[in-house]
Amino acid sequence: MFPQNIVLIGFMGTGKSSIGKRAARILGFRFVDTDHLITERAGMEILRSLHLHGEAHFRDLETETLRALENTSHQVVATGGGIVLREENRRQLRSLGFTVALTAREDVLFERVSRNTKRPLLQTADPQGTIHKMVQERAALYAETAQFLVDTSDLGQQALAELIAHEALSRFPSITST
Ligand code: S3P
Repeated sequence: MFPQNIVLIGFMGTGKSSIGKRAARILGFRFVDTDHLITERAGMEILRSLHLHGEAHFRDLETETLRALENTSHQVVATGGGIVLREENRRQLRSLGFTVALTAREDVLFERVSRNTKRPLLQTADPQGTIHKMVQERAALYAETAQFLVDTSDLGQQALAELIAHEALSRFPSITST
């Protein structure tokens, strides 16, 4: 069976949502974002959910949200940066569709995430050090889950979206058919 969706994984600040929306527009796909689905499911913002119920609970919601996407098609699915931490999630991500990992150099990530303060896991005394540590922990998980890796450090969002759409179509020409 050919992949039904395009799934974007990668660290916070790699541009999964903005690039994903553009790729969805190019392909005529729906765009979904697991963080938004979790916010709806939890009835509150992630920051508040993490604060009230802790990270383990948030990770459970993430797994439930992924399970609920089973058997969907024609979507670009952007995911939260930590979704690859669970083995079950990595399996689900691969079965959902063509998995693309967005990467970026750490200085670029830091510059991008510093522009908004909504990332609870980076609210530490040394966000740059935290990014470094988390990237070290996760890089292999992104690489093992993805079929295609794209460095977003130096290219614009539209060019990146076109690259991803083009790659999906050339590997799986029937991905857009019903
Ligand atoms: C997280 C990334 C966030 C969000 C949550 C945890 C992580 O998503 O899911 O704050 O563990 O890296 P983005 O990658 O969209 O910022």
